[in-house]
Amino acid sequence: MRSILQDPDSSSWPDSGAELSTQDVGRLIYASISAVDGPVLDEMRRIRDHAVVHNAEHGLRVALMHKCGWFVEWIEGPMAGIHALVERVALDPRHRSLKVVHESVGQPRLFKPWIGSIAQSTESAGEFARRVMALHERHVRGKGYEPASVWRSLCSPLPGHVEVAAAREGTYQRVMMMSARQTGAFDLLRWLAHETRGRVAHRRFAGSVHDALDVESDYLDLPDQGQQGRRLIANARKGLAMGVTHAFLPDHAAVVLLLDADAGQSLRLLERLLVVCQQVRHRPAIIGLGADGWFVPELQTATETRGLPWLEARTGDGEPKHARLWGALKTVLDRLG
Ligand SMILES: Cc1cc2nc3c(=O)[nH]c(=O)nc-3n(C[C@H](O)[C@H](O)[C@H](O)COP(=O)(O)O)c2cc1C
Repeated sequence: MRSILQDPDSSSWPDSGAELSTQDVGRLIYASISAVDGPVLDEMRRIRDHAVVHNAEHGLRVALMHKCGWFVEWIEGPMAGIHALVERVALDPRHRSLKVVHESVGQPRLFKPWIGSIAQSTESAGEFARRVMALHERHVRGKGYEPASVWRSLCSPLPGHVEVAAAREGTYQRVMMMSARQTGAFDLLRWLAHETRGRVAHRRFAGSVHDALDVESDYLDLPDQGQQGRRLIANARKGLAMGVTHAFLPDHAAVVLLLDADAGQSLRLLERLLVVCQQVRHRPAIIGLGADGWFVPELQTATETRGLPWLEARTGDGEPKHARLWGALKTVLDRLG
């Protein structure tokens, strides 16, 4: 797959996102059947180029997803602007059968003008349609779920029937993992999937900046772990600059930093993470993971100075293997509850 567009490597926000997080906004999510004939990536890029300019003018922020032959668009901003956009977009021949699955006024989650994502899926278009219809009917009955929950129910659903999966949304333990160097978090997830006979789900995200690469994020569900199930999400370091990370960070109980022998690398990543946590006003537990020699006191001090809990998953001396890393991490996660 060709790479596209992504945010720069910093987590700086393009505009006054911090102010927004205290003010209620309109929130709407619709799903529609894609009529895109040809490379979806190219079409997403064309939509993005138009959307970034137009949406900013109207104070709108969007996340657009393509999966299973469907589009899902989550829009936040003034309700009148949202309705005007939906009316216009509904006429677009690149999709059809637009169904609203969420509409409400509440706290914003989208702090960047545009988030694009494409997810691989083993789900059929028919199964996806059933999810859409179930969420649409629930919305019509006035019993809709929160937008982040609706989005996940479509884009990265928990195992099981849509209603069961959506109901479990709030009780799952979500844990984000990042590595200070290379791809250790992704490698650990792949190893764990193999061990548990689970399956890693792959997603690619794009931001609103033109000329950078896109960012991947994988996840693995462990429904029998934790008190009510656990989802581990491996993120790339540059994902910290992405609106999608900001949107979903508040639902994470913990963020794991797979440390590096070079403490400077670990500290730089931690600093960036702490800034983003502050921006989205969320205080997950920060878990340092790695060999004893990779821990330096500054990690704990930096975290606690910002008011976040610091936990350590130590593997002892020497370069740790995946089994050691997971053993140490699981013990800490189980204690978190
Ligand atoms: C799934 C999908 C999502 C879209 N999202 C947006 C959007 O958020 N903002 C936007 O301005 N255009 C969006 N568009 C494009 C519009 O439908 C339309 O093509 C574009 O605004 C040009 O309209 P105009 O010719 O009236 O200027 C989207 C199109 C599709 C198919």
